[in-house]
Amino acid sequence: MSQDHGAMDSLLHEERRIPPPAPFVEAAHASDPEVWDRAAADPEAYWAEWARELDWFEPWEKVLEWTPPHAKWFVGGKLNVCHNCLDRHLTTPRRNKAALIWEGEPGDVRVMTYYGLQRRVSKFAHVLRRLGVEKGDRVAIYLPMVPEAAIAMLACARIGAIHSVVFGGFSPESLAGRINDAEAKVLITADAGYRRGSAVPLKNNADAAMEHTDSIEHCIVVERDSHVGRELGVRMKPGRDIWYHELMRDIEGGVDCEVMDSEDPLYILYTSGTTGRPKGVVHTTGGYLTQVHATTKWVFDLKEEDRYWCTADVGWVTGHSYIVYGPLAAGATVFMYEGAPDWPHRGRFWHLCEKYGITLFYTAPTAIRAFMRWGEEWPEKYDLSQLRLLGTVGEPINPEAWMWYHQVIGKERCPIVDTWWQTETGGIMITPLPGLTTTTPGTATRAFPGVHATILNDEGEEVDAGYLAITKPWPSMLRTIWGDDERFQAQYWSKWDGIYFPGDGAKRDEDGNIWILGRVDDVLNVAGHRIGTMEVESALVDDERVAEAAVVGKHHELKGQSIAAFVTVKEGVETGTSLADELKAHVVEKIGAIARPELILFTGDLPKTRSGKIMRRLLKDIAEGRAVGDTTTLADPAVVEALKRRYDEGDA
Ligand code: WT7
Repeated sequence: MSQDHGAMDSLLHEERRIPPPAPFVEAAHASDPEVWDRAAADPEAYWAEWARELDWFEPWEKVLEWTPPHAKWFVGGKLNVCHNCLDRHLTTPRRNKAALIWEGEPGDVRVMTYYGLQRRVSKFAHVLRRLGVEKGDRVAIYLPMVPEAAIAMLACARIGAIHSVVFGGFSPESLAGRINDAEAKVLITADAGYRRGSAVPLKNNADAAMEHTDSIEHCIVVERDSHVGRELGVRMKPGRDIWYHELMRDIEGGVDCEVMDSEDPLYILYTSGTTGRPKGVVHTTGGYLTQVHATTKWVFDLKEEDRYWCTADVGWVTGHSYIVYGPLAAGATVFMYEGAPDWPHRGRFWHLCEKYGITLFYTAPTAIRAFMRWGEEWPEKYDLSQLRLLGTVGEPINPEAWMWYHQVIGKERCPIVDTWWQTETGGIMITPLPGLTTTTPGTATRAFPGVHATILNDEGEEVDAGYLAITKPWPSMLRTIWGDDERFQAQYWSKWDGIYFPGDGAKRDEDGNIWILGRVDDVLNVAGHRIGTMEVESALVDDERVAEAAVVGKHHELKGQSIAAFVTVKEGVETGTSLADELKAHVVEKIGAIARPELILFTGDLPKTRSGKIMRRLLKDIAEGRAVGDTTTLADPAVVEALKRRYDEGDA
């Protein structure tokens, strides 16, 4: 089992207990300590109560139909996600409330009320229809963090098209792979996006991707910055490529919401797994919206007057569930920022918190560790007194970072919600409830009411340390892997009978809190983002000079993990720093910058078992500078000794 050693150590002596602050408790949405028991007694009735907070065109006949591993929630119910996120608010005072406040990295600002956002979405939905997009068709979205990303997603939901958002940092090849897998008909991109002062050439990347796809009929291009677009040499292919603003100018009026079945797909989102090919996680309509709505309200204690900021990119599931669908369904004012936290200076996030009066702030441990390193002087320059709750997601948070967040950002006034969930779970699963839970730095505490999480061993017996397991279906669970239901069954449901296997190690403490210890499979978590070791390995061996590659995660101060690659080259190939740099660049080109190996070590041999399986565990020991574990099963133990010696001598 691969584990984060920092987290392991902290388990042994973490004695701090932080009860929710008294003023917070009095006003919190979730205030009944019996709620977990009540939900556990009848989870279906409990989730149905939440579902009734949404607007349904037709009621469901049955809350849950469970034929493991396939679940149907709110069977027979009809609704539309876009209607629930926008239209239904227009008959309330939220009509004129800011739905979206956006700031671009260069400092440009846009504000959209619920009315204004609905109008744009409805018009854009009309545009998509006109271009021939029908219910069930797939639309790929490859955009920077601009309002049009949310508009495009909601417009798809409005007409029942299935969106597949691809993170703007992914390479043309990754984009092409995702377009092809889903056979997307339309691609929505932008001329450029901003990151750390430079322009990301999204349309140029999209062009490169579209050379390897057959399914795209139209490419809609959002003009982020016409000047920069010209500088980047953006070209529009006649007949295929169309400017977003021209389509929006020429279309008249909007369209109504399509009536969707509760189990109609809402989106596909690709995530890394243990094989080289990313999996298209499929989420559906009624259950998904119910859980993201419920968790947004209770975990963030979202109130009408809040200003909520989740710093994730819409390209990840966090952006789907907790920038767009959950918060808008709950009628929040969502703040969205395009750029990097250290541009043009390291106080940018805190300046934004002050400027927009952010009350609820949700970010990743990797960011918190960077803020820590940059020093307290940055947050201290700004007035953070509006903040009332802090959240984290994406990876285990070490207690030191937790305490820093609590003291320096939250001024010991704000509860911290450490939320465990995954692309596959769709919504938050393990989390404190901020008005009820006494937290301990480093643990996500316990399952959200109505969710059933425990820790099992290989035999499926409850243990205090082993694998995290979800023992009952939950509304926002993935329904399948797009086009590959077998993989869905094998990946998540074959370890135990009818129990979901998330792939994380976990441990329970004396208070009954669940500590997430990191992935137990060949999946890395770099800065809160999942990367499959196999994906990086296939990118490496794709270079003709490489014979074999083994990739492992290496503990990293800021990112949680970084990537270390052990590479053997073919006969006659010269190794050295220039080859290492070229290989790193090759991985970036194949997958994207997030997958760049921090370290490449060339070796004559890789440690293998007698049956030929690469022993990544040993490579990980080497990469993390530990004593190397048991080598008795190796075909040739000398390989490891030689590697370790070279590594320790700094030949990396
Ligand atoms: C993996 C899921 C959920 C959105 C972001 C990541 C790790 C996530 C926590 C947490 C410890 C966490 C797990 C999980 N993870 N949240 N609060 N504490 N680990 O989504 O890319 O699907 O990755 O992230 O290892 O399995 P994802």
